Amino acid sequence: MPPRTVYLETYGCQMNELDSELVAGRLRQLGYRFTPEASQADVVLYNTCSVRERAEQKVWSRLGEIKKRKGDEPGLVVGVLGCMAERDGEAMIDRMPVVDILCGPGELDKLPELIDNAVRTRASLSADAPARRSANQVALQGDTSRRSGTLAAAGDNLELLDLSRTISPVDEGRSRSAYVRITRGCNKFCTYCVVPHTRGAEMHRPPEHILDECKRLADAGVIEITLLGQTVNHYRFEHGASVSIGGVAQPQKGRTYKGSHHRDAFSGEHVTTFADLLGRIHDEVPSVQRLRFVTSYPRDFGDDVLEVIRDSPRICRYLHVPAQSGSNRVLKTMNRGYTIEEYDEFLDRARSILDQPEIGRPLMISGDVIVGFPTETDADFEATIEMVKRSRAKNQFIFKYSPRPGTVAYDRIPDDVPEALKRSRNNTLLAIQAEISDEISREQIGREFEILVEGFSRNEKKKRGVDVKPGSGMVGLTVGGSSPALATETETEPAGLAQFSGRTDGDQIVFFDVDTSATPADDLIGSIVRVRIDDAGKLALQGTRIK
Ligand code: SAH
Ligand code: SF4
Ligand code: F3S
Repeated sequence: MPPRTVYLETYGCQMNELDSELVAGRLRQLGYRFTPEASQADVVLYNTCSVRERAEQKVWSRLGEIKKRKGDEPGLVVGVLGCMAERDGEAMIDRMPVVDILCGPGELDKLPELIDNAVRTRASLSADAPARRSANQVALQGDTSRRSGTLAAAGDNLELLDLSRTISPVDEGRSRSAYVRITRGCNKFCTYCVVPHTRGAEMHRPPEHILDECKRLADAGVIEITLLGQTVNHYRFEHGASVSIGGVAQPQKGRTYKGSHHRDAFSGEHVTTFADLLGRIHDEVPSVQRLRFVTSYPRDFGDDVLEVIRDSPRICRYLHVPAQSGSNRVLKTMNRGYTIEEYDEFLDRARSILDQPEIGRPLMISGDVIVGFPTETDADFEATIEMVKRSRAKNQFIFKYSPRPGTVAYDRIPDDVPEALKRSRNNTLLAIQAEISDEISREQIGREFEILVEGFSRNEKKKRGVDVKPGSGMVGLTVGGSSPALATETETEPAGLAQFSGRTDGDQIVFFDVDTSATPADDLIGSIVRVRIDDAGKLALQGTRIK
């Protein structure tokens, strides 16, 4: 069979970006080629997100477009991967028969086989034969992942996908950031959220696998690693209970976390806690200059983790800890499991241990808020406004509640806040947060920061006629950046003054000018430079390079 050309488009969170990178690496190993143009591909894949309805609508419209093409190209293979495939299941094919492959996020290790089958089946269909249902290739987890008997097997295969990650040396002038998964799935079942349904039960990867991956990335030139999980601070691996199948250590099921503010009572029994994991990566992979993690859950966040961050110069002073609401009644209905007083207490504790602006290391907080959750009253919303003001986050990602089929809120609580009210609450909060973000930016003026240079600034790219990618529609998270395999910046620049963009370890964007006739852009991108902040604009801080 001639090599197949694949187009892969990714929606959703960083978890999905990482999944796409792993899948692309695996397919490349098998001889598939990749193209940035859907029109040139004979296998078109969408890695999808279900977290809000809007995320799904984009994919429906893509599928609508590709339907037209399929009439002329019966051999074309279309696959829907990720959370939307898992949530919609085969109903998706009923609605959009153009879909040949459905592959949930828990089954991505099976994707090469599914594509291979689909390609063969499509090739054998004559142009006038109608696509048969039996021709579809489907791998979904269904609810099997929550049956404990099958957990190990499910984890095993997915773990192999992570373990088979292809890591090639980072080229000069490319992004040197990467994601590493530590936890899969989620057990929290917030009443509005699809993730526990699409990603399955919480599983923690063996620490040795995580460390090994970090080391391999570091050897390839990666200097910034973002650890991924839905509730990273619940990471916990019990070595005494660890199981190995075919010589491969197995991920471990999450369990009810009995955390405290103090060191884990079980750590003496050879348990790797989240604090231990952070400390080990920091100490054992010293060439990683920036280590961060998302997303933190506001409960069960022990001082042990905060102390490791404080004592580790290369762990970023950045916490993404979504509160979701400021009203205890709403938090309860959301099943978040903490009160707003506990949230406030956490932020105070984190700030008292970590916030050190005087040494250029202010703690930056970011969060997520849902407005218009069912039954949210004016008083509840006021409480959320107060929470946002008290939190003083660098940024808050604010979402209008979107009812998701299959969740408890969808089934039991009518979506009773009118769209217009959701919109106005959204705008009110955006305006309040914009002021706070501006204030925090202005507080940085005069401070000096280590900046990881990511590339030319947006304006500089426009000036140079380089493609500026539109926003990726990511779910509320800005850290990390593109992984080495997906990075696209390869411009060679004319000599002269150019504006660059980079980030502080608290994830603030900074623009600064550099004379590229003295320092070529390729030497700068991916390096860390020292910058003094002179000004604070709407999009970013502005600074002067001092080293
Ligand atoms: N595990 C993370 C969140 C992952 S989903 C946590 O618990 O913090 C990312 C964000 O999407 C959530 O924090 C929430 O703010 C938002 N979100 C999830 N489901 C939503 C829904 N049904 N409607 C609107 N926003 C939602
Ligand atoms: Fe969803 Fe809650 Fe899990 Fe976050 S913690 S992924 S919001 S269920
Ligand atoms: Fe979306 Fe699934 Fe991530 S629903 S936010 S892609 S875990």
